[in-house]
Amino acid sequence: MIRTKICELFDIKYPILQAPMGPFVTTKLAIAVSDAGGLGTISHAGILEEKDTVIDSVSKMKNDIQVVKKAAKGNFALNIRVAKLQLMLDAYKLADMVVDQVKNDPEVKRKLKAVITSAGDPTIFTRKFKDVGLKVMHVVPTVRHAKKAEEVGCDAVIASGYEAGGHVSPTPVHTNVLIPAVVDAVKIPVIAAGGFCDGRGLASALAMGAQGIQMGTRFINTKECEFHENYKKKIMEAKETDTEVILGMFGPARHLVNEYVMEQKALIAKGTSEDRIRSWELPRWPLAEKDGDINKGIMLCGQCSGRVKDIPTVGDLVERVMREAEETINRLQKLKGTQDLTSVQNQG
Ligand SMILES: Cc1cc2nc3c(=O)[nH]c(=O)nc-3n(C[C@H](O)[C@H](O)[C@H](O)COP(=O)(O)O)c2cc1C
Repeated sequence: MIRTKICELFDIKYPILQAPMGPFVTTKLAIAVSDAGGLGTISHAGILEEKDTVIDSVSKMKNDIQVVKKAAKGNFALNIRVAKLQLMLDAYKLADMVVDQVKNDPEVKRKLKAVITSAGDPTIFTRKFKDVGLKVMHVVPTVRHAKKAEEVGCDAVIASGYEAGGHVSPTPVHTNVLIPAVVDAVKIPVIAAGGFCDGRGLASALAMGAQGIQMGTRFINTKECEFHENYKKKIMEAKETDTEVILGMFGPARHLVNEYVMEQKALIAKGTSEDRIRSWELPRWPLAEKDGDINKGIMLCGQCSGRVKDIPTVGDLVERVMREAEETINRLQKLKGTQDLTSVQNQG
């Protein structure tokens, strides 16, 4: 059985993390991933700039923690985005609420293993969370960011390549380059993200020195994921060329191409200000994920959508990924010693 440092760090069976996918809700998904032996994650839900975002997102996450804590058989994590805009809105209040929950609820303390901070400075909350015994993982798109996360005391980094769904680095660095570079640059465990959807991917991440993978797009297409069925169908129909990086909440973000993407590009080409784009975009957030309008709605999604062709249960998916990873590692081991390297390369 494949076990790595992150299995020990979070007391989980398999080195598979579910990506946070705010502003959408992933409570049921988090429970299913946790039950399947991975680390499920509560997302930072709530649409930015809504008048009641702060109250909503804080009480929402508080409720989600209670729901997941009661239902999940295994451990879980949660995400707080720490971008400047998010700090102005709800990030500090969320952090206080999480610390409070850990201090006052022994079962939360036992099962909530980690906070994933993303889209900003890892310095802000790391000490605060670690002081109550939580592990902190920060999402990083470059070696420089990974070193900084290690320096300020993060327990692990999630290195996310340009293939990923959602926010990506303004300077594109792809997963195959990013992961080994980050692994070489830091001593803390590295979790690979961006484009992972199967066991070959997990085996390749381990080969590059990562301690596990985080999957977003692949987990959308599971029976338990809360996203609208049309969102899932659209992912299954997508080719690997059907996503594009356009303006997201905090900078560039990868979306599945649809009318929304085309309209946003047209607005930008006309010189529309970012503020106006924000208010145009706001009502479009829940359209695809909640109402199933896959033309006009926002569809954050990674390049690996081109490789996702089914909607299994989370349990079946996780077992399949683990089985494939083991098969891949066994297959690679057989290459060793039975053929010389030249003949392997020549077989393509
Ligand atoms: C629908 C969607 C929403 C996302 N929202 C967030 C978020 O709120 N916070 C965050 O840190 N990452 C977010 N991400 C990025 C994921 O956490 C993860 O890094 C990414 O999905 C990995 O790439 P993959 O989609 O190829 O698996 C989002 C991704 C998707 C697809």
